[in-house]
Amino acid sequence: MSRSLTILGLETSCDETAAAVVRRLPDGTGEILSNVVFSQIADHAPYGGVVPEIAARAHIEHLDQLIVRALKEAGLDWTQLDGIAATAGPGLIGGVIVGLMTAKGIALARGLPLIALNHLEGHALTARLTHHAAFPYLLLLVSGGHSQLLIVEGVGTYRRLGTTIDDAVGEAFDKVAKLLGLEFPGGPAVEKIAEEGDPGRFAFPRPLLHRPGCDFSFSGLKTAVRQTAEAIENPSRQDKADIAASFQAAAADVLADRSTHAMQRLRAQKPPQLVLVIAGGVAANKTLRARLMQEAGKNGFECLLPPLSLCTDNGAMIAWAGAERMALGLTDGLEASPKARWPLDPAAPIARGAGIKA
Ligand code: KG4
Ligand code: ZN
Repeated sequence: MSRSLTILGLETSCDETAAAVVRRLPDGTGEILSNVVFSQIADHAPYGGVVPEIAARAHIEHLDQLIVRALKEAGLDWTQLDGIAATAGPGLIGGVIVGLMTAKGIALARGLPLIALNHLEGHALTARLTHHAAFPYLLLLVSGGHSQLLIVEGVGTYRRLGTTIDDAVGEAFDKVAKLLGLEFPGGPAVEKIAEEGDPGRFAFPRPLLHRPGCDFSFSGLKTAVRQTAEAIENPSRQDKADIAASFQAAAADVLADRSTHAMQRLRAQKPPQLVLVIAGGVAANKTLRARLMQEAGKNGFECLLPPLSLCTDNGAMIAWAGAERMALGLTDGLEASPKARWPLDPAAPIARGAGIKA
């Protein structure tokens, strides 16, 4: 498609309510015209985790105002939009319904094409917005619900090389935070206290390290952390910092090892460029970013890291992926349905951490 596409994107699959306007230019580059995110952290903090029903209600309460703000900040009115994209799954179904139904209402009222998006595709294509990444590239997708290594071959074409066989890495961060008594959300809290800790104090297991393949496992690591934490009577702040730092080091080793295997797999295909992209909320972790950057360098790969605000859930990634699909003529009818489960690679065996949250 040889015209600019200006797309409104809505994200409501977890605990971030987000709306953004992104423009894709005919040369395939893009610009973010607005990107507003309302974090529901305060609503869920008293429960120490995301409560699906509270999330769905908060999306209903905030989404309309966020859409108005996103348009205002972009300096646009409804007539200047070319399409509306919304996350249609995978995720907490109540929230997904709110976002998708809002998008359908707008599509119908304004006569705009609808793009019902896979949330993971939003994460997967972000590097094309931020770095103009060319296909194919290797993607390490690490979030609260997913830990996967995929080859992104094109818009809508993803080949899974590996996935977690138990917990997602973000989930492990969140659980470690909880058992150390840190605040919600866990990932950033573990990262923060780990800065004061000794990563060498506890030799936590590195599940699947050096094993063939690209699958991950984090549940044994999480259990080891729990046993260590429980064995220390009245743990001091230093004990907690050392546990957090040792856990983070183990998680980084596992992600680096599995990604190295995946890089070797992609290299064997002799692609025109060797690129590793890291996406998803856990990609905001500075220790992991530095480690994977180093690992990519060792393997002759360029490592592309979207800015932190585009690693965690946001509307811009949904608007951008919507624009990418629309540029290829891939839009959806109003019968598009919300999906709690929606793997990116339908040919890969069903796995909990690969498009399936619970
Ligand atoms: O992609 P995302 O915003 O939502 C999902 O699609 O799941 O990822 C959220 C996950 C949470 O598990 C959160 O604890 C983790 O990303 N996370 C982090 C950091 N920031 C967010 N994990 C480690 N270090 C961080 N700085
Ligand atoms: Zn996400």
